[in-house]
Amino acid sequence: MKKLLITAGAASILAGCAAGSMFGPAPKDGEMAMPNYKSWPTYLTGIEKPDGHIRDIYINETGAKAQKGQAFANGTVSVMEIYKASKDGSGKLQKTELEKVFVMYKGKGWGASAPEGMKTGDWVFGAFSANGQPLKVDYNTCRGCHMPLSDKDFMFHYDKYFDTRASLDGPSYGELMKQHAGLVAMNAQDFGKVSNYIR
Ligand code: HEC
Repeated sequence: MKKLLITAGAASILAGCAAGSMFGPAPKDGEMAMPNYKSWPTYLTGIEKPDGHIRDIYINETGAKAQKGQAFANGTVSVMEIYKASKDGSGKLQKTELEKVFVMYKGKGWGASAPEGMKTGDWVFGAFSANGQPLKVDYNTCRGCHMPLSDKDFMFHYDKYFDTRASLDGPSYGELMKQHAGLVAMNAQDFGKVSNYIR
């Protein structure tokens, strides 16, 4: 019953109540449902694995607000799609079908139940088939690989994410000033009008 409740409450836990205490004890690995992530911001896409997979990573809005150098806030969810891929005529890997969906969920005090020496901060893990059915996995394998990344909040592509995002975040200040050269050059009278609006 507890498990059912947590699954049903997952969406609302993630939406508002990151602490999860409203729903009883913090969820453990494998207890959360697969989130509905398709409309979320992307984190990194098209990560090619030579073994014949392509991975796309999403992050929810809470996670996307993090700034470089910070840990992700409670309520962050990271989703990694793992696609099968095969080489096309030109030798380039192309996605075929979605094979698995791996998820990391962060909430205050979550993950505390992980075995000693296997803790990854406040993150818990989930693994699903393409249609959202939970997979039977040994979650300590997830922890084993992610655990050493404590200085990157346990996320593999932490640096790449923030570096990529910075370059996509829109024009630099200098660029903006150029685009608005007309505004900058406007006369004092106009400026008075504009500042009336601003107030
Ligand atoms: C063999 C090591 C390894 C294991 C085991 C592993 N991961 Fe990862 N995980 C990675 C790597 C490496 C990445 C970065 C993506 C890439 O380059 O393939 C990653 C990325 C992720 C991401 C995207 C966020 C990030 O760290 O960039 C999630 C979510 C994730 N893994 C969940 C899981 C879950 C859930 C499990 C267990 C079912 C798991 N991982 C097991 C190595 C591992």
